[in-house]
Amino acid sequence: MAIAIYPGSFDPITKGHLDIIERASKIFDKLIIGVLNNKQKTPMFSADERVAMIKKVITHLKNVEVSSFEGLLIDFAHMKKANVIVRGLRAITDFEYELQLSQTNKVMAADIETVFFTTNLKYSYLSSSMVKEIANFRGDISPFVNEEIAQEIKNKFRKVEQNGIKNS
Ligand code: PNS
Repeated sequence: MAIAIYPGSFDPITKGHLDIIERASKIFDKLIIGVLNNKQKTPMFSADERVAMIKKVITHLKNVEVSSFEGLLIDFAHMKKANVIVRGLRAITDFEYELQLSQTNKVMAADIETVFFTTNLKYSYLSSSMVKEIANFRGDISPFVNEEIAQEIKNKFRKVEQNGIKNS
């Protein structure tokens, strides 16, 4: 059974991520989306929030599950009995980092292969940070994220604004 991990920050999940999830779910028996809970960073959404948001947009994919992880990706992969790591490649700018990541993981865990999916042309420019920036300036994010996710982002900004007003 080929079990793959699709790891990332997913802060938030975009249509580009979802496209890769849908394609990878057709190739592997089971796909586990691994949401990195990086205590050194301050994401917009907590790991639990990101997991909950992802669950909302993968209900149609029966062999896909999602959970958060801390620490090394290869340890998470071994714990989940996964032998493949899936990553998306948008442009050449992604390549250097992805090569370094996959080769480092290969040295640490020779039993795990990294497989790259070239991002759908429709989403090759897309990133979570861009989505957050557009949302921050009240731009329309509907081309980039699913409706459920757009709503969560709007709610988050509303909460931040309300807290800001309360604190001032
Ligand atoms: O969506 P991202 O932020 O590009 O995902 C990066 C991710 C989560 C794949 C990477 O940071 C990761 O695997 N982090 C866990 C720690 C680890 O195993 N690092 C690789 C060896 S240095």
